[in-house]
This record gives sequence, structure tokens and C-alpha cells, in this order.
Amino acid sequence: MQQKRVFITRPIPDLGLKLLKEAGIDFTQWTEKRELTPEELIAHSRDAEALMSVGPNKINKRFLEASSHLKVVSLHAVGFDNVEVEEATRLGIPIGNTPGVLSGATADTSFLLMLAVSRKAFFHHKRIARGDWKFFEPKANLGIELQGRTLGIYGLGKIGTEMAKRCVGAYGMKVIYHNRHRNEVGEKETGATYVTFDELLQQSDVLSVHTALTPETRGVFNLEHFRRMKPNAIFINAARGSIHDESDLKQALDKGMIWGAGLDVTHPEPMDKNNPLLDMPNVAVLPHIGSATQETRDAMSRLAVENIIAALKGERIPYVVNPEVYERK
Ligand code: 8YV
Repeated sequence: MQQKRVFITRPIPDLGLKLLKEAGIDFTQWTEKRELTPEELIAHSRDAEALMSVGPNKINKRFLEASSHLKVVSLHAVGFDNVEVEEATRLGIPIGNTPGVLSGATADTSFLLMLAVSRKAFFHHKRIARGDWKFFEPKANLGIELQGRTLGIYGLGKIGTEMAKRCVGAYGMKVIYHNRHRNEVGEKETGATYVTFDELLQQSDVLSVHTALTPETRGVFNLEHFRRMKPNAIFINAARGSIHDESDLKQALDKGMIWGAGLDVTHPEPMDKNNPLLDMPNVAVLPHIGSATQETRDAMSRLAVENIIAALKGERIPYVVNPEVYERK
């Protein structure tokens, strides 16, 4: 039997598979309708030279130590909070990701949530489905307008910049942002002003999260911080669910500390169907579809395959999360 050189943890777009075939690389894909267990991930990677991780697989110390023969772990994602990067570097495994290509699609998702929350769109949709559209109610369930409001970006990188551009273009929104370090390129592209975290909380009408999940950002949107936000504020998170504390968010909405919330990411994922947030008029939740367009998923699969092709040729991978892995050799 021919050796399968790449194990892919979920079926990826045909474009990526075509590129692998053209490069003469064999692969197998995990097609079962459930996530792989950690044991299965190790077992399936045993005979592979490269792993393409699609979705929330834990690329942790245990996995990496059992799979130190891998020439690359290529993520079909830009985020790498599921990877213990230092362990990978220690074991000499390059980690690849797919930067840049999903910024527009993810920003579109944040923009969609902002608008959906501001007009209670998901609530109205459910109301019709329940048979609750009976007569005209001019004062019921009104939305709020976005024209001229202040957009606060928590994490002005590529995706945050795309979100800011959309909000400036559509509604002339004033943009403020908070980062660990100032982003002067992003400031020039969007007219954004750097503010402290506290100022971001206090001044944003829409506060949109676009940062990576790190020990510093985990749970940062908690009750104490929601309390400092404007009562008319809309909170948007299309980054990672663990950046907000879900029960604190629910309390903040219940107590009117903020006006609404739009989430493309939750903790855990999938969200339970009985989650009370799903019944709130000012809340819109999506199942982590930030990058889920044909164009973007094609582009992600191309970058993820380019990383694999380079690694299997013994070359430096083009989109590397841990460049220091090449310094230690
Ligand atoms: C992916 C994402 O859909 O790229 C990321 O970091 O969150 C999404 O684009 C997800 O990681 C599955 O691969």
C-alpha cells in the first residue's frame, strides 16, 4: 500500500486537494461527522509526514511529543491558540497558518453581526417563524442606528482594519482602537485613534473584538469591563469565544449595562441549543462562520497546501507561525 503522506482532519475545498494531487502528494481526510479524539489524532498522524489541522484539534505537548516525526503541522486557519507553539519549536516542527486571506470575510461577519444586532434581525426572523407577526407595532422592538457612531476595535490587525474600513465607508463611524502596540499602518488606512483600554470601553458605541486569544486576552470582557461600557453599546466578537466571559455577558445584557451582542464565536463551541443568549432580542449568534465563503476557504486551502508542499520538499514553509524553528537547526 502506498504511504499516505498527509493526514487532513476534515475535508477541505477541492482546490487544495487538486494542488496536493498536482504535487504528487498522497493524503487521507477524516470524514466522520464528529471531532477526532486526541488518541485518534495521534494514531492517524503516525504514518503521515505532514498534518493538516482543520478545526479545533488540540496540537498540544502530548500530541507533539507523540508526533515529533511530522515535517509540518499546517493549520487551515489563521488563529493558532490551539497549538502549543513553544513545544512545536522545541521539537523542531514548523507550524503553518493562513494569514491575510480571510480578513475580508471575517470582517464581513463582524459587520453582519453589528447590523443584525442593531436591528434585532435574528429575533424578528424567529418571531415570524413562531407565527408572531400579527399586526403593525410602531414602537415595538426598535433598533438603533449606526450613522456617525464610534467604533471601538480591540485588536487592530488585518481583520480589525477591514472591519473599520467597512464601518467608516458605510456609516462614517469614528474609529478608536486598543492594541498592545500602536498600529500606525492601520491608523493611516482607517483614521483610527489609539486609546487606552479604559477609554475604549467608555467611548465605544460598537466594540468589536479582533485580537488573538492569548493568556492576556482570555476572559478580558468580563462584568467589571462590561460595567464600564455605554448602555447603548453593541459588543461584537468574531475572534475567539474565550475572550469574553459568557455568563458575565449575559448578566451585562440582562442588567442593561450594554445594549446588545453579536457573537460568531462562543465557549464552548458548538453552543448548546438551550443557551439563554439565543432567546434574547438584542443578541445574534453564528456558528463560527467568519471565514466561511467559497473564495476564502479556497484561498485558505491553497496557503495550507503551499505550507505542506514546501515542508515535504525540505524547504522553509512560506506562512510560518514559529520562524524560530529554523534558527535552531
Ligand atoms: C476557521 C478561524 O474556520 O482561521 C481561523 O482562525 O477561526 C476560522 O477561519 C477555523 O479555525 C477552522 O479551521
